[in-house]
Amino acid sequence: MKRFLVALILAILVSSCGVSEATTRQITPKELGLSSLRTLAQNRGISIGTAVDVKPFRKEPLYTSVLAHEFNLLVPENQMKFALLHPERDTYDFKDADAMVAFAKANDMQVRGHTLLWHLSVPRWLSEGNFTRDELMDILRDHIYTVVGHYRGSIVTWDVLNEAIDANGYIKDSIWQRVIGPEYIDLAFRWAHEADPQARLFYNDYGAERRGQKADALYNFVKGMLERGVPINGVGLQMHVGLTASPDPQEFADNLKRLAALGLDVDITEMDVLIQNSKIKGSLDKKFAEQGRLYGENFKVCVSAPNCKAFVIWGFTDKYNWAVSFTGRPDKPLILDESYRPKPAYNALLKLLSEK
Ligand code: XIL
Repeated sequence: MKRFLVALILAILVSSCGVSEATTRQITPKELGLSSLRTLAQNRGISIGTAVDVKPFRKEPLYTSVLAHEFNLLVPENQMKFALLHPERDTYDFKDADAMVAFAKANDMQVRGHTLLWHLSVPRWLSEGNFTRDELMDILRDHIYTVVGHYRGSIVTWDVLNEAIDANGYIKDSIWQRVIGPEYIDLAFRWAHEADPQARLFYNDYGAERRGQKADALYNFVKGMLERGVPINGVGLQMHVGLTASPDPQEFADNLKRLAALGLDVDITEMDVLIQNSKIKGSLDKKFAEQGRLYGENFKVCVSAPNCKAFVIWGFTDKYNWAVSFTGRPDKPLILDESYRPKPAYNALLKLLSEK
């Protein structure tokens, strides 16, 4: 009893001193040293975006306050992929994706839809369904009409198709390719265009930023689509790079230019710079400095190209990054540290945006 009374008195004292309030008050982006990339980007007509991880989005107020403070473009990291959005044949689950779209609206941000079709996001009902070609075409049309229609007017750009070709330009194996054949690609773009004629429609892929086989394959792939009259507006270059694996800026700029000559926009869609496994030796500070230089170098190529209108980072705080699911090893590939404080990479973007 005595112990209980002492505890009670202490609790009353602590709360009346305002200690508990002080410890729970949330730190603001400004106090973290953040200036707002989006404000500067907006003045220059650039979209600066990030992928959004649903877990902290749902639970961590600091995550969402930094998100809205720094970015004017939001990309659901996983929540619009086929398997999550369409878990059963007759069931669509829009809950999480809708919450992100509502958040974007409330905070005056645009949304990039990622992605209608990806061979790595196929629900079991689909892969094990033994569907005929006609059935699968109906399913694909229904999916695209339903999803793009649901978000009509709310999504500026759709990654209609993700990572569908290999470095030789062959269309990768997928249920769509196997059962429908390569026409699935043109059909998907046509159906997406019918469902939302205002949305910009993109093909998104990795490893095609530098000059080389993959870049040529991608160029020929989208050129073929244009020649067939397929409604495609642009290409997403993912830009998952590393300290010793970032494209030569001139090659990257040349790629943007030749895609522009086709009339296509290019968005940088998933940039991060992995620091593990690199030959760069030395302290973490040294690696962060080099990482910042690479963010700046690639960002500069994008902002200098008239057809590069959006620059999206695959997350923003090292606290939540996809490295483990990608490489099996933890990393620090993003622009803010685990406490949401700016790294050299953040300052590099800020500096470029501040230049006249
Ligand atoms: C990744 C997500 O970041 C992970 O959380 C998920 O487990 C797998 O997918 N290229 C893409 C993205 O186009 O959709 C991928 O996102 C990363 C690689």
